[in-house]
Amino acid sequence: MRVLVTYGSKMGSTVDIAETIAGRLNELGFATEVAPARDYVDPCTFDAVIVGGALYAGRWVKEARRYVKRFGPDLRPKPVWLFSSGPLDDSASEQEIPPTWHVKAAMKEANARGHATFGGRLDSDARGFMASGMARTNAGDWRDTGQIVAWATGIGTTLAAHDAA
Ligand SMILES: Cc1cc2nc3c(=O)[nH]c(=O)nc-3n(C[C@H](O)[C@H](O)[C@H](O)COP(=O)(O)O)c2cc1C
Repeated sequence: MRVLVTYGSKMGSTVDIAETIAGRLNELGFATEVAPARDYVDPCTFDAVIVGGALYAGRWVKEARRYVKRFGPDLRPKPVWLFSSGPLDDSASEQEIPPTWHVKAAMKEANARGHATFGGRLDSDARGFMASGMARTNAGDWRDTGQIVAWATGIGTTLAAHDAA
């Protein structure tokens, strides 16, 4: 079974989340490919797709939104999951954070089966007016590998059952 994990990122931290998900699915026996959303990898040759995006002002980065918009009709019949990365605190590890309004719309567009919000990362030397301002109070890495691996494991279990049916 071929699985595509595609992601939108501005500052690089969502890439690692996508790689962790793909790594776990590979361990579980899936043939998994990771690609930036801006490459617009055609989902048609994959059996399942996971699309992730970093959150900025409550919205996914543009490339992730565009990916879902462009391939919505191809994604809808497939098993699809979405994830968001963002919160710069422990909140995503401590409780399930629902998708933002915009990401909920993307879920509808892709007919996604599920969504997870993972903690994000902001470097203390982040560049740009907004990012550097935020970094003064919110710099750190809140990506929770255990949470990400557990989520990927759940997807693997669902896909294996789907394949066996
Ligand atoms: C200007 C700015 C706005 C942000 N807005 C949000 C937000 O609305 N919600 C959220 O959870 N995280 C927000 N974040 C945190 C980022 O989503 C987090 O740093 C994420 O890990 C960045 O992913 P990337 O490195 O892949 O770009 C924001 C960060 C910056 C710098």
